[in-house]
Amino acid sequence: MANLKYSSSKGTSLLLVAALVLCAMTAVAQTASDNCRPASVIPLASEPPAKIVIDPPLAGPLASRGVAIIQYCTQNLHLVPVFGPNALAVSPRVGHLHVRLDDAPWVWADASGNPIILMGLPPGPHKVLIELENANHHTLDKGTVTFVIPDKFEAEKAPTSGRADGEAAPIFGVKIPPGYRDWRLISVAHEEGNLNDLRAILGNDVAIKAYREGKLPFPDGTIIARIAWSSVASEENNKVFGRPQSFVPGLAPDWYLQFMVKDSRKYAATGGWGFAQFNKDGKPADEAPLKTCFPCHEAIKVRDLVFTRYAP
Ligand code: HEC
Repeated sequence: MANLKYSSSKGTSLLLVAALVLCAMTAVAQTASDNCRPASVIPLASEPPAKIVIDPPLAGPLASRGVAIIQYCTQNLHLVPVFGPNALAVSPRVGHLHVRLDDAPWVWADASGNPIILMGLPPGPHKVLIELENANHHTLDKGTVTFVIPDKFEAEKAPTSGRADGEAAPIFGVKIPPGYRDWRLISVAHEEGNLNDLRAILGNDVAIKAYREGKLPFPDGTIIARIAWSSVASEENNKVFGRPQSFVPGLAPDWYLQFMVKDSRKYAATGGWGFAQFNKDGKPADEAPLKTCFPCHEAIKVRDLVFTRYAP
């Protein structure tokens, strides 16, 4: 996903005294740390050329959150916030970085030695040019890292057909039916108040057929799914509209997924319907909320306990 080019400068290493590794990083062996020779700490008559070694962004954070963490280290140069022509005479050599993102007309300077961390970049290819500068902003070495911010982060990826085959919900023993996420749409709804969510109501083939034929009661085998997402304002969309008006699905609330399963014999005591609720991880709700389903849905007995009308 990421590839790396860095310009090589010639010159072999001379005598090096004490070790000062400038690349700050973790226990994991990285290219930057492997390749970095410590810069000298006593004045030198002649110093080998300064070099920068840059790693590709750490794969984990890039894939899981789209965060580019770029580690690097310098050879024969101490990164310090010391600037100006007089600092050129200092030995061992001191300098800093200029960092340029995606060919921007501007750079930022960095003398920290810490990894470069870029968050919130839009999906797609990106390029970071890192220039190693002497104290008077003259480039000594440079390297470019290219990488791709994924469209969808692993943390957000959902199976396209939803979860299935998890634990059964209590009381009615309903499991998440396989493929429910691909079922056809019956309608949508928006709840305000404490719920403040957006929801989609989907039906399996038996449900859709019954709805379209206007058949009541729903036949055995009918399953109706209800997915809910918290309703959040979309800054992205509002920017285009030029005023706040757009709301989109956000995080999954505890009542993320609900099902009503028709089996007139098995669920005779509750109007022929089994009820189930799962959170976004497929974990079934406790018994307590499941005891509330039937008493409330009974209010719509005239339509076989189903509130939602088909939205043509
Ligand atoms: C306080 C009343 C109430 C309770 C309690 C309740 N529901 Fe509902 N339910 C509704 C209403 C009203 C709708 C239609 C509007 C909507 O989607 O929010 C609905 C919609 C649904 C739908 C879509 C089909 C339909 O009837 O419109 C499913 C599936 C569903 N509920 C399952 C459940 C489950 C499972 C529980 C228990 C965990 C539950 N409900 C608890 C009132 C309730």
